[in-house]
Amino acid sequence: MEKRIYLTTPIYYINARPHIGHAYTTILCDVVRRFYRLLGFETYFLTGTDEHGDKILRAAKENRREPKEYADEISGLFYKLWPTLHIQSDDFIRTTEPRHKKVVQRILQTIYDKGDIYHARYGGYYCTGCERFYTEKELVDGKCPDHLKEPEWIEEENYFFKMSAYQDWLIEYINAHPDFIRPERYKNEILSFLKEPLKDLCISRPKSRLPWGITLPFDEEYVTYVWFDALVNYISSIEYPGGDLYEKFWHVVNHYIAKDILKPHGIYWPCMLKAAGIPPFKHLNVHGWWSMDKRKMSKSLGNVVEPLDLAKKYGVDPFRYFLLKDMSFGLDADFSEENLVKRFNSDLANDFGNLIKRVIDMIAKYCEGVIPECEAPTEEDNALTDSLEKLGKSVPSLLDNLKFNELLERIMKVIRATNKYINDQAPWTLNKLKNIPRLHTVLFTAAKTSARCAKLLLPVMPEKCLEALSLFGIGDQDETTWETGFSAGNKVIQGTTLFPKISLPKLAGKKEETMQEESQTTEFIEYEDFTKVKLATAKILNAERVPKTDKLMRLDIDLGFEKRQIVAGIATDYTPSELVGKSIVVVVNLKPRKLRGLESRGMLLAAHGKEGFSLVSVDRDVEPGSSIS
Ligand code: MSP
Repeated sequence: MEKRIYLTTPIYYINARPHIGHAYTTILCDVVRRFYRLLGFETYFLTGTDEHGDKILRAAKENRREPKEYADEISGLFYKLWPTLHIQSDDFIRTTEPRHKKVVQRILQTIYDKGDIYHARYGGYYCTGCERFYTEKELVDGKCPDHLKEPEWIEEENYFFKMSAYQDWLIEYINAHPDFIRPERYKNEILSFLKEPLKDLCISRPKSRLPWGITLPFDEEYVTYVWFDALVNYISSIEYPGGDLYEKFWHVVNHYIAKDILKPHGIYWPCMLKAAGIPPFKHLNVHGWWSMDKRKMSKSLGNVVEPLDLAKKYGVDPFRYFLLKDMSFGLDADFSEENLVKRFNSDLANDFGNLIKRVIDMIAKYCEGVIPECEAPTEEDNALTDSLEKLGKSVPSLLDNLKFNELLERIMKVIRATNKYINDQAPWTLNKLKNIPRLHTVLFTAAKTSARCAKLLLPVMPEKCLEALSLFGIGDQDETTWETGFSAGNKVIQGTTLFPKISLPKLAGKKEETMQEESQTTEFIEYEDFTKVKLATAKILNAERVPKTDKLMRLDIDLGFEKRQIVAGIATDYTPSELVGKSIVVVVNLKPRKLRGLESRGMLLAAHGKEGFSLVSVDRDVEPGSSIS
């Protein structure tokens, strides 16, 4: 099999700042390309901006700017945003660049010379949002179905591309290549559209109405239709015709788009390519929409989420992980910050981050910080290693089948299995029993699996996973192989929490109500269950921070019938002097446990509010040890 892939995102309109929808497709392509790179593929990844047409001219005017100057600014926002989201493309194409214009004009001339472009008078409903004419039948209640606005009736002389001549060819081609457009539902959508006679495509705009575009090579009075210009970016970037990149990558191109632009990609583009004598693209991969409250996120609907704000708040890599994990390719997904936080806490803080931390901490504690040798692996160790092997083998087919969230879930499963393996093998007990060979084998196996999982997640979270790998004493990573460079004898680095758990953010208005509603639907317990918990008041006699921790406070408390020591995680919100003398509420009959070597006999109650912890107390003076029911 040829190990080469060319990935493209749509080139984005520059009438608006980038939002989470743009970020999704671009992050997705970056992730997919990094996975293929790890599989040893030669890759090429293109993104860019679509800068001509009505929409852009209008936006420039609204901002009182010259179109080119405006285009430079907004295109610059996209260009600068991508590296901050850990996206590395090989090229960033702008349709205002001479290298692109040259190819667009060449294609137009070729098709014109072939006789597939003609001149005629035309009238139609024109939506400036979509930059295309609609037939009456396509409108919903007289409005554009995407922009929910009434289109303008426009009548003028224009040039037309004989798309109708390619209808039969396209139907046949799609039927003969079932994975040309995928997932299948989008292929079916195109085929069902092609059941109706295909109309010729108006591919020009008179300069008198729209001067902002690429001039038709055969008529100075017109510019070309923005889609006839934009789609060509996929070949102009790779130096069509004859360029090395074109020769190397065109036949392995995978276009990634959302369903909003299915028709231009699924119909116009293959017909244009065919007419120009260029082989069709390999795959058109179509994903669903991110919506907010079930409506597509878009500038015109005013419900966009800014990707950088979220990446800054929660970290770029977790944000990438969330987007990939919470959308099933091809289907829509509703965005919510609450879901992002939940995903972060469950998969990254509790599962992946926790695994790395506990493995590193145990190697520090039981092996003086040096990764031990694997002595004699048992069935359990081999089972874990095998599950990893199996996962590695499934990567190519999961990628080929666009099962990105499933791939991440499978990696998470191995991570959870490794956490379970540690619980089952209990290195702490092995240490107590002085079973050193077994202790070493377990820690080696857990560490090696954790490092490999970090490498598997590297395409999604490049920065965090490199950091995770560095904690195992592994330096630079070769991003073209799954090998990690993990080895016994490396010194681990302790003290890093890769994904500190986050509390649910302040979510405005309606969202907050939903959260309250949700919390009110908690399962009920019996009164007897509650009575098992012995609560009593206590007075704090002494308080001191536990050295080398941020959160822990050691407290001496008076329970009336006895004095006790408890350890509580409130040091971020209280100073010792604030605590001494306070009356608090304590769970008296909680099994004692050790925290940082200190025994805690009981637990104080505190409310976890938006600003942090607030101690629970009673509203009148009662003697310490009073029971609470
Ligand atoms: N300029 C055209 C594309 C030309 S490609 C030859 C265009 N630009 S766009 O700025 O509107 O970008 C549309 C693309 O942005 C979608 O196809 C998708 O990749 C991404 N998204 C924009 N909003 C989105 C969502 N709400 N959800 C998911 N992706 C979305 O169309």
